[in-house]
This record gives sequence, structure tokens and C-alpha cells, in this order.
Amino acid sequence: MKQRILVVANRLPVAIQVTERSFHFQPSPGGLASALSALNDAYELMWIGWPGEVDLSMIQPENISTELKKEYNASAIFLTRRQLNRFYFGFSNRVLWPVLHYLPTHIDYDEKDFRVYREVNRVFADRIVEELQAGNTQDIVWVHDYQLMLVPAMVREKIPEARIGFFLHTPFPSSEMFRALPYREELLKGLLGSNLIGFQTHSGLRHFRSSLLHILGLDSEINRIDLEDHSVQIGAYPISVDPAKIAAAMEEPDFEEDLRIVRQIKKGRKMILSVDRLDYTKGIPERLSAYKKFLERNPEKAGEVVLVQVAVPSRTKIPDYRHLKDQVEVIVMDIIEAHETLPDSPIQFMYRSLPFRRLAAFYREADVALVTPYFDGMNLVAKEYVAVKKDHGVLVLSELAGAASELGEAIIINPWNRDQISDALETALELGQDECTRRMTAMYERVKRNNVHYWSRSFLEDLIRSTEEHADRHGPVMPLNIQKRNELKEVMEQSSRRLLLLDYDGTLAEIQNLPLAAAPDQELREIMERITALKNTDVAIVTGRKRQEIEDWMGKFPVILSAEHGLWIRMVGEDWDKQLPESHDLAWLATVEDIFEQFNLKTPGSFTEKKEAALAWHYRLSDPTFGKWQARELVMHLKNMLSGAPLDVLDGKSVIEVRVQGIHKGNILPYLEGTGRSYDFHMAAGDDATDEHLFQALPSDGWSIKIGAGYTHAHYRLNGVRDFRSLLKFLADS
Ligand code: UDP
Ligand code: G6P
Repeated sequence: MKQRILVVANRLPVAIQVTERSFHFQPSPGGLASALSALNDAYELMWIGWPGEVDLSMIQPENISTELKKEYNASAIFLTRRQLNRFYFGFSNRVLWPVLHYLPTHIDYDEKDFRVYREVNRVFADRIVEELQAGNTQDIVWVHDYQLMLVPAMVREKIPEARIGFFLHTPFPSSEMFRALPYREELLKGLLGSNLIGFQTHSGLRHFRSSLLHILGLDSEINRIDLEDHSVQIGAYPISVDPAKIAAAMEEPDFEEDLRIVRQIKKGRKMILSVDRLDYTKGIPERLSAYKKFLERNPEKAGEVVLVQVAVPSRTKIPDYRHLKDQVEVIVMDIIEAHETLPDSPIQFMYRSLPFRRLAAFYREADVALVTPYFDGMNLVAKEYVAVKKDHGVLVLSELAGAASELGEAIIINPWNRDQISDALETALELGQDECTRRMTAMYERVKRNNVHYWSRSFLEDLIRSTEEHADRHGPVMPLNIQKRNELKEVMEQSSRRLLLLDYDGTLAEIQNLPLAAAPDQELREIMERITALKNTDVAIVTGRKRQEIEDWMGKFPVILSAEHGLWIRMVGEDWDKQLPESHDLAWLATVEDIFEQFNLKTPGSFTEKKEAALAWHYRLSDPTFGKWQARELVMHLKNMLSGAPLDVLDGKSVIEVRVQGIHKGNILPYLEGTGRSYDFHMAAGDDATDEHLFQALPSDGWSIKIGAGYTHAHYRLNGVRDFRSLLKFLADS
């Protein structure tokens, strides 16, 4: 049996058309169905989505549902009028769409809309949960686009082990823009329910990470975010087209008829083609104005060229879309009137949707494709043009379309600069055949290789891999219960050389508001005496503290000490040994100290801790919300300023620390090995992010114990210092 993928998108691949008392289905706008068609061989695709606007008084929804299930393996979600207005026309398309495309002047926000957005997302999530519960654990959920950003977390809440991918088809804007969104936290947390989140471009991915940091205070790695209960992979997967399917459309016998119709419009002139949904993100007014300018500058060309603008009606209930139509029609009329004396107008405005084969005929006949969105997630029109033309024609492309990052041989323009667009048209129409071929062939090869099948497969493979890693990394973190403690003790007693690696703060001693208040108490001193007396056992205290502090507190016991996160190591009875390369220049300390000082001044309760090769900014005494806010700002500032420097910025528990890269707590293991020691039993315990290095450096049969909550590489977990002390006492009892 094939593995099942639940493809969840606001729109089903087909939309219902009601005629009298019957109905039929038509392909929906958007190419998701064909984008995923390559998966049909290996997987069973099941669709969950909205079948489009339908007057339910005329038709029985059960009949539609049955037909959709039977014909398309689709599960229909019907929206009430209120849901349609507030979820689809409202929050999705009057708030999210403009923000995601950096056009906030089009925002039209009504608070009730978000409640209904949440409600409809819940309806989708519930349907997914129902399907997963009826299906099997291998099912994969793939959620699409901005209308359903809350769905992943809603599903995960009900089914924690669900395998969920999310792909955003639009741009993800810079964090400054995203911060303008009401409920931005909930939207981000919604996405974080996924195992994999895909973006069209690397810049979208970068902006997403920066939004996580600014809005949720959540740090991320280049391709991963570690959360308490799972980790989320992130990646860029530029969507594409299917060149083979496009070629097949042009092989159909009726294609000749399509070509004939297009040539009637072209009338032997050079044809410039633009194809868009009539959307304010597509840059249509600037483009048409630029064309007007081009004709004014080159009056002799007016009889030799025609611009065909295909504008597909879209979201027409939204006032801004209607205004756009009026605005565009005024410019079109201006152009027509200015050239009334010509036998044929240099512009053709077609306000309608074309079947793909007719569109392909337009692409084939177009000498230039003019694609100038203000912002676009990808823009498939640009790639379709390349796939049809193969080795001739010219593409003029906006630098702000996602496609520009792959189609560098296009004539790239700024969609807001009419002069530049007009110049680009001049260049495009004059470009020699060889140059056209050189540019188009390079782009065609790329589109052919990075086609839509490659897109869907690579996303899916990464999704499956991420859910497997999820199981690997999170499955083994289990509470160190009584049974496991007994096993640990038994293994330890049977071994011949043992190494215990113990973090100090939050592990051996409770975290205190002032670092110096965490000095060892009577109980800890007794524990230290007992475990250091164990035979064949080396005990190491591995801390981020300064060497003098830890030496004062622990130096009287026969323990190995590692201070400042691995910068200093001291064997029992020996001197401190510094782990820093001679060549490392510590001049950065003064710069970072200045920055910390600025933050101390504006954050009451915060202070700087100076170490020999590190600086820490503590804010646990500050107002918690304000402190966290300032910490986020500080991290952003430091990461920008120090990018490229061999330094790490660490976001710890109420502390931000800057230190030398590559020096970390895990270094103690190779260091001990270098002294000729070898062990057949390893145990490490720690409570915060810096201890993860220690866990990762342990041999695979080592016992790693995370103290407290949070994401970890450790295999076991204990609740807190008290539990860990009792474990040490238990191990010391022989
Ligand atoms: N399209 C179509 N008929 C038309 C105009 C457009 O089938 O009359 C298709 C076009 O082939 C392309 C899609 O609509 O696949 C538009 O995708 P694009 O990424 O360019 O823009 P979007 O509409 O998703 O913002
Ligand atoms: C863009 C969006 C899609 C959407 C499509 C058509 O491509 O990213 O999610 O389906 O436009 O818009 P519509 O509002 O008609 O679904």
C-alpha cells in the first residue's frame, strides 16, 4: 500500500461550478495540483480544502462531498458566508497577503476577522486529525500557504507525533514588517507545530529566523529550531514548473488553433507579454506606465509592437482589487487614446483567465515577457515562459520576484522604476539573437533541472528525514526513573575507569539571582567528599564560571576543573592550562564590553560579568519582560556586529554570553584523552544550552542527564538540583 500524503490547502485542486441544479468541477486557479502530480506514482495523495464559493441552497453539500471524494480523493471543507468573508477575504487577503508582500497600505484589519481565521484553521486541523486517526501513523500532512498558518500547531496539539510539513508560497517579509501583524506570536507558534517549514527563497528563511528571535525570543540554527518537545527543520525550496507537461500541451493537435488566434492579435508585430492575476502585488500600474513612457520615447515603435496584458480576475470582492482594476483600465485607455490613429492599438488588455494551452501559445509567440511584480513569492509565469521559449525570446524580470534568484540571465529591473523598465524594453527588443539564445538556454537548463518534481520530492524527502531525526533525537530522552538509576549504578560498578562530568549552576547548586550566592552548601560539600572518594573515579566540574571562583569553591576537593566553558582546565594538583590558541586576539572584549555597558544603562537590574576570554550580560534581576526584550535586541545587535568573527553568542538562562568559538565544555573529553586517560564509564549532567556540547562529546554509551526542562541531546532527564543530588548520593553509597 502506498504511503498517504494529506495535502491541505485552502483551495482544492478543483473548484465547483453550479449550473441550474447540477454541478461540475473545474481546475482551480494556482498550480498546486500539477505541482504535486509527480508524487502520484509513489504516494497516495488525499486533498483537504475548500471547493470554492457555492450556493448551498441550490445544491446538497453531501452530493458534492461524495463526488469529490470519489473523483479526486478530496475531502471538502465548506465555508459559511461569514467564514468566507472574515477568514478568506478578511484576515487572509486583507491582512496577511499585504503584509507578506510588504504592502501595508493595503491592510484592512477588523479584529473579528482573526477570530474567524482561527476558527477556520481549527476546522481544517480537526479534519486532518480525523483523517490521521482513521489512517495510520506513517501518514504525512503537507499544509500549504498563508491561509493556514495556525494549522500545524493545532494538529500537533492533538497528535504530538504527527508528521507535518508546511510550505509558504508567498514571500516571508523582514521581521520589521512581520512585527506589524496582530497576533504575530500566535501565527509563528502555529507554524512551529511543523516538522519542516519550507520557504521559496533563502531570504524568506532568513527573515523567518529573525522574526522568531525578535518576536518569540527564539534562537535558531541555519536549518533548525529546537523547541522543548520537538525540533523544526527549515529550508528554501523554490517552486517550479513542469517542462515536460508544458511541452506536451504544445504537442496537442489544437495547439495550432491557439497559435492562429494569438497571431491574429500579434499581427506580425513584436509582442510583449504580461500575465498576472489582477493583484496589487504584481506591479501592473507601474509596468503599464513604463510601457506608456517607452512609446512616448520611441514613437516610431508604436506601430511595430503590442503589449498583451492578461489579467486574471482575482478576489474581486475586496475593494483594493476593484480599485486596481479601475486604475489599470485608466492607463490602458490613455495608451489606446494616445495611439488612436494607428490601425492597431499597441496594447491589448484581456481581463480573463486563459486555459493553459492558449497561454502557452501566447508564450510561444511573445518576443519579450515583461514580469514586474513589486513582490512575489516565486512567479511561475516567468518560469513557464522560459520553459516554452527554451532558446529564444527575452525575459524582463523584477528583482523582487523569488524567481530572480534563479533566473539571473533575465534583464533584471526594479519594478518601481519606470525609466528602468522602459530602458529594459528597449534593450530587450534590440537584443541580438545570439545573446537571446545564450541567456535563455542557461535559464532553460536550470528550470528543466530544478523542475517542480524536484521541488516536491526534495521537500517531501526532507520532511520524512526530519520526522525520523525527530524520533531519533527525542525518543530516548526519558526520565531517569528508579529502574534506570539502578541500571546506571550497576553499569558504573561493573566498569573499571569512570568519569563523572558535572556542571555546577543549575545542576549541583540551585541558580541564584547573584552568581556569587551559589557557593556550595553543607549538603553539596558532603556529596563532593563522598563521590570524590569513590575508587577508580575521576570527577570533573565543568562550568562556565571564572576559574578563580570555581577553584575557591571546589579546589579543595580532588576534582578536575574546567572553567569558562572549557577555556581553562586544571588537573588535580596541577596549574590551570589555557585552551586558547596563541594567535587569538582578545581586542573584541573591549568592544563587546562597551555594548554591554550601553545595555546596562538602559536595562535596570542588568550587569556585566567579565571573564578572561568571555563576557556575560546578566539580566535575571531585571523586569522579566523588559529584560527578555532587551536581550533579544542585544543578541540581534551582537550577531550582526560580530558576524564573521571567530566568536559565539550564547543565549543562556537570563544571560547572554560572547565567547571564543570552538572553546566549549565538550573540550574536556579530548583534553583528558590527550593526557593518556581512558574510561569505560562516562556520565555527564547539566542544565542549560552550554551543557549540550558536553552531551554531544560523550561516547555513544555514555550516560547524559539533562537537569530540568528544555530541548536536549541528553538521553535522560531529571527534574532539578534536588533530584540530581539524590542521584549522586545514591551512586556514592556502595
Ligand atoms: N495562469 C493560467 N491562466 C491564465 C493566467 C495564469 O493558467 O490566464 C496560471 C499560470 O500558468 C501560472 C499561474 O496561473 O501557473 C500563476 O502563477 P504565479 O506564480 O505567476 O502567480 P500567483 O497567481 O500564484 O500569484
Ligand atoms: C497565490 C497564493 C495561493 C492562492 C493563489 C490564488 O498563488 O499563494 O495560495 O491560492 O494565489 O489566489 P486565491 O485567493 O484565488 O486562492
